[in-house]
Amino acid sequence: MHEQITITAASALRGDFYLPGDKSISHRSAMFAALGDGTSYLRNYSSARDCQSTLDCLEGLGVQIERTPDLITIAGVGLHGLQAPQCVLDVGNSGTTIRLLSGILAGQNFTTEITGDDSIQHRPMKRIINPLTQMGAQIVARDGSFAPLKISGGNLQAMAYTPPMASAQVKSCVLLAGLFANGETAVLEKTPTRNHTEIMLRECGVPLTLNLTENGMRIAVQGGARLRALGEYTIAGDLSSAAFFIAAGLVVPNADLRIRHIGVNPSRIGLVHVLRDLGAQIEIVNERLAHGEPVADFHVKTSALKGEMELRGEIVANLIDEIPILAVVATQLEGALTIREAHELRVKESDRIRSIVDNLRKLGVQAEEFDDGMRIHGKQKLTGASLESYHDHRIAMAFAVAGLLAEGETKINNAEAAGVSLPEFYQLLENCRA
Ligand code: S3P
Repeated sequence: MHEQITITAASALRGDFYLPGDKSISHRSAMFAALGDGTSYLRNYSSARDCQSTLDCLEGLGVQIERTPDLITIAGVGLHGLQAPQCVLDVGNSGTTIRLLSGILAGQNFTTEITGDDSIQHRPMKRIINPLTQMGAQIVARDGSFAPLKISGGNLQAMAYTPPMASAQVKSCVLLAGLFANGETAVLEKTPTRNHTEIMLRECGVPLTLNLTENGMRIAVQGGARLRALGEYTIAGDLSSAAFFIAAGLVVPNADLRIRHIGVNPSRIGLVHVLRDLGAQIEIVNERLAHGEPVADFHVKTSALKGEMELRGEIVANLIDEIPILAVVATQLEGALTIREAHELRVKESDRIRSIVDNLRKLGVQAEEFDDGMRIHGKQKLTGASLESYHDHRIAMAFAVAGLLAEGETKINNAEAAGVSLPEFYQLLENCRA
């Protein structure tokens, strides 16, 4: 189904609401619950299509899952209880599913074929094939690098691995494979990335050691450790989904939004730091810990944003998923925003450097494209245009927010892509305009 959405300028936004659970945490909670000893009850599990794909794949591996809108119940099969699937596992659009699950599949004494949609079949898998084959798994990939992957596992050797790129998916893949290896598997992370896997391993009682070395963080997991079930587990709201509303609340006139129970893990809130440095009024209140993950409530108001900023290095890895919406915010800045060392954007659900710059230019914004990033000039007048989602959820949502700022009508083609992470997005945005 190809859906086109039309957005017009907003003169005010009001809202006080919750959002579905964090996508990264939801994927992990399902996988860890499946490998756990006992039953887990997951609340506020993400409604994202991607997270449903993870449940589908786990069912394909013999895990019993009950799904209701409020509760996902997963009967853990234990570390060695997965069964050989009867058919090819399909991850849909989900990079996190294929990369994390491949780590688990590498530890199984059977062969699994796993694939996904067209975008997934063009995303780089060498980054997980390399470490997993070094540990002893056999992986056949299309052209040696792409899904479909045929993974024959078992008998893994522990190892120490330094990922060549900043990637929480690669780190998590290796740590998950490490659960099935003999001895200690370590990942040396030069640039910090989201640490939900580490937090959840500890929640499940798996011994994990963290050591800050001069080359970065060494994260080590002991093979063979059994996982405690997660039990009653409520997933924090998704900061990366909240980001679209936080941004809209800053740049639309007369806005006042409260978004509650959102994950504020420091490895994820780089966007908030950057926006505050630019003058954003973002209040974070009622901070608390839920299952080792910090959560809080946000209060955002229309703000005058100002600054000449260049982002590179650690902060880029921290806010990598928020760059599409940050780029839209930058059009309203008194000043300019430059983003460098963000090559990873080229291999996301779409080539996001290209998708962002193309859509910005169609709206009449002056933007430069670099091999590893972009430069966006602020104080720009946006003129409604027909835009593409490039079948990328974050591009669809970021440019729907741009539509709130543009004169005339903005159309987003293939707008249904938003459902990959937040099927409720357009309705929630509409509610804020009411
Ligand atoms: C994710 C890691 C990031 C992020 C993705 C989710 C995760 O990908 O972009 O949306 O849940 O581990 P990379 O590991 O490719 O940076």
